[in-house]
Amino acid sequence: MRRWLLLLLALAAPVAAAAAPNPAADRAAFQGWFRHLFPQLPLAKYVDGPYNFSASERAQWQQIMELPPYGFAVDHGKALFDARFPDGAGYASCFPHGGIGIAQDYPQFDPKTGRVVTLPIAINRCRVAHGLPKLKLTTGDLADIDAYMVRTSRGHKIDVVVPDTKPALAAYEAGKEYFYSRRGQLNFSCASCHLQYPGHRVRGDTLAPALGITASFPIYRSKWGNMGTLVRRFIGCNKNIRSAPDKPDSLAYRDLEYFLTAMSNGLPIAGPGARP
Ligand code: HEC
Repeated sequence: MRRWLLLLLALAAPVAAAAAPNPAADRAAFQGWFRHLFPQLPLAKYVDGPYNFSASERAQWQQIMELPPYGFAVDHGKALFDARFPDGAGYASCFPHGGIGIAQDYPQFDPKTGRVVTLPIAINRCRVAHGLPKLKLTTGDLADIDAYMVRTSRGHKIDVVVPDTKPALAAYEAGKEYFYSRRGQLNFSCASCHLQYPGHRVRGDTLAPALGITASFPIYRSKWGNMGTLVRRFIGCNKNIRSAPDKPDSLAYRDLEYFLTAMSNGLPIAGPGARP
């Protein structure tokens, strides 16, 4: 009887692997996995990342949050956001609702270019459309503008849309594959740490669950001494596992952010965040 079952599973596996992409089903399984791991933890709490698992780290974090270190970045980001471009336009002209309260809708798939557009990349696209040079995607002014736009979206539920088209689903699938693929000298995948062992400690750090892991970005990190976008953290985690990082605006990171954020649909935006 059991042999039959094994055979059946073996036969079913390749079929399952070739099944049509289904982001909604993936999300149900993804969120279900975390519910199974931590049945007591409400979904919205996942946006607190590592701080659900260690009382001492949580206390330290709450102390930091009393006078949030990203405050300056948000103020600076607002000033930059409100400033006029030389052509008289401003960032508000590039976004729906004047760019206020919209961070939950990113990343998006742009059917014109066939590429995923994250919020930081959309900010740069706005600049280029108005004859300005792109800003660095990892930190600095762009991270501050991102921080301001995210701050106006706090509490809004993440709502990443993956259109039912071949190119959009392909980008989504590429991001999913990146997340689950082992890489680097240490041969880890993102999933090895953030899906398999959330809440466990690695070299003094508590591993954040992959669910809700994008919700607090950009973050002010004391270790950095300034703000960093999500791709800055991707680069850091790739380096930690001795894997060559991808370029900040690479398709690989765009797709990864697309997949990872889509898995957290329904959770509230909690950024900008602060980390020790
Ligand atoms: C060897 C384990 C390991 C692997 C593999 C790994 N990370 Fe991390 N990651 C960490 C640790 C440790 C931290 C810092 C503590 C924390 O917040 O989880 C971290 C932090 C993060 C954070 C910030 C979480 C927060 O709330 O501050 C993100 C986002 C992240 N990782 C994404 C990724 C992605 C995407 C990959 C795959 C490219 C990846 N990580 C691979 C260990 C890992």
